[in-house]
Amino acid sequence: MTVKLTWYSHACFLIDTGDEKLLTDPFLTGNPLAPVTADSVVADYILVSHGHGDHVGDTVAIAQRTGATVIANFEIQNWLAGQGVDNGHPQHIGGGFDYPWGRVKLTMAQHGSALPDGSYGGNPCGFLFYIQGKKIYHACDTGLFYDMKLIGEEGIDLAILPIGDNFTMGPVDALRAVKLIEPARVVPIHYNTFDIIKQDPDDWAEKVRGETKAAVTVMKPGDTIEL
Ligand code: NI
Ligand code: MN
Repeated sequence: MTVKLTWYSHACFLIDTGDEKLLTDPFLTGNPLAPVTADSVVADYILVSHGHGDHVGDTVAIAQRTGATVIANFEIQNWLAGQGVDNGHPQHIGGGFDYPWGRVKLTMAQHGSALPDGSYGGNPCGFLFYIQGKKIYHACDTGLFYDMKLIGEEGIDLAILPIGDNFTMGPVDALRAVKLIEPARVVPIHYNTFDIIKQDPDDWAEKVRGETKAAVTVMKPGDTIEL
């Protein structure tokens, strides 16, 4: 069995475990790079890292259409319940849970988490997935933090890191993150969705290859990789 990850741009991935499909931060409507639409995307689980509109995205509509279980922090769960999404599983930072497809632990992230209507969204998080013996760290929106080293101590097969700058780590700090985490492979995200986060991922990939042992895969929206 392999784990397949399809990048829907920004922080949105479809993780196909073979049995179930996990969708992260489904920002599709209003996202100029999204290769799928909110009314056609499939999901058994939706994971939401924080309350910002480019991460909560189409969560409510997709959850209502598909009946997917939403995994997010307790505060976002409460907000979703108020939007009519009651099929949630709340977790919080540092806590993991074993689902039928594997485990996910919420990690810290240095960012904000206010919801689109200004409601309190708790603290933002990243995701550490344990699926079929593979460890995938999806950092979501964050600045660089030294505790990434602790996450790296777990032995990360794939790190998914923002490089867009302005709202999150930029290319320089994302390179430092690779050095702290020491993943086998890394994929850059959260760039070129908007002009304000314009970056050259190939240039970044070259620097990572030159200064670390990590393999780098620059994905195009719609691309799939296997672990
Ligand atoms: Ni954000
Ligand atoms: Mn964002």
